[in-house]
Amino acid sequence: MDNQNGFLLMKDQILANLREKESVVSGERLSAHLGVSRVAIWKHIQKLQASGYDIQSTPKGYLLRSSPDTPFPWEFPQRMSRMHYVERTTSTMDIARDMARKGAPDFTVVVAGVQEKGRGRLSRVWQSPEGGLYFTMVLRPELPPILSPRVNFAASLMLAQTLEQVCNIEVRVKWPNDLMVDEKKISGMLSEMEAESDRVSFINIGIGINVNNAPPADVGYAASIRQLTGKTHSRIEILSRFLNTFEKRMASGQLDTIMTEWKQQTATIGKEVTVTTTRGTSRGRAVDVDENGALVLETGAGERRKIVYGDCFHVPSGEREG
Ligand code: BTN
Repeated sequence: MDNQNGFLLMKDQILANLREKESVVSGERLSAHLGVSRVAIWKHIQKLQASGYDIQSTPKGYLLRSSPDTPFPWEFPQRMSRMHYVERTTSTMDIARDMARKGAPDFTVVVAGVQEKGRGRLSRVWQSPEGGLYFTMVLRPELPPILSPRVNFAASLMLAQTLEQVCNIEVRVKWPNDLMVDEKKISGMLSEMEAESDRVSFINIGIGINVNNAPPADVGYAASIRQLTGKTHSRIEILSRFLNTFEKRMASGQLDTIMTEWKQQTATIGKEVTVTTTRGTSRGRAVDVDENGALVLETGAGERRKIVYGDCFHVPSGEREG
């Protein structure tokens, strides 16, 4: 085990011991359990305290009074060595791209507390203040590049289902990969791929979820889950449940039916929409999403167009023509 992994494992094990007992645990007991000196335990406790864990140090030992909802790697024991947390960065996409090019393994995840230059689709800014969940996954699916959109659709569907379960809200997917609650956007996804001619080298999927942050003031249709439910939600639980579900689905290799499943959870098909692409904006009725994830738009009398990349906005019923 390298030093970094040993360091993370120690935090995980100290917390597991403190959480299990729910009462004071002596330094002696921790040191015997973990096979390190009491001084080493004390140093780790100090680091945990500095990271926001409220650990009371008493003459009889240590008491964990509360933990921060910060997605530190040791909060994900099953995948700790592939989790990376930074308090503040430009964009998790930048860090993840570097790591992917250097050979980071499948399901390496970079999470940030705050992003200073969060990126959205179509060159937009993704505001990333404290309280939201911002992460990028490095994925290495064994797929030909043409099938890569299925991975994005699988991620958005698995995330919608996770948020429904964890936060008790009804989530719809909006083409291509936005998550909506009652026409309010709670999450967006950005993906970058590098491929050789016949196989994907990596797909990095970046996800921003407005969890406990104030919703971005300049985007009228955005909302945070806290704002919609009136409650604070655990970012650690959301991320952990999502990664487990999504990784299991990817490992199963069962992506053939993903578009059919996605269509059962979408709010886009049947809606009047405007679609913005790098070439401009069109309006019409969304009639289907094909097996490769392209949006089928009916623009005029029977005229159908497929749109592969863009952003779509549902037109509110009051603003529809005719
Ligand atoms: C969109 O809806 O326009 C996509 C938003 C994607 C935001 C996420 S936050 C984590 C990752 N890092 C970024 O800079 N962007 C993505």
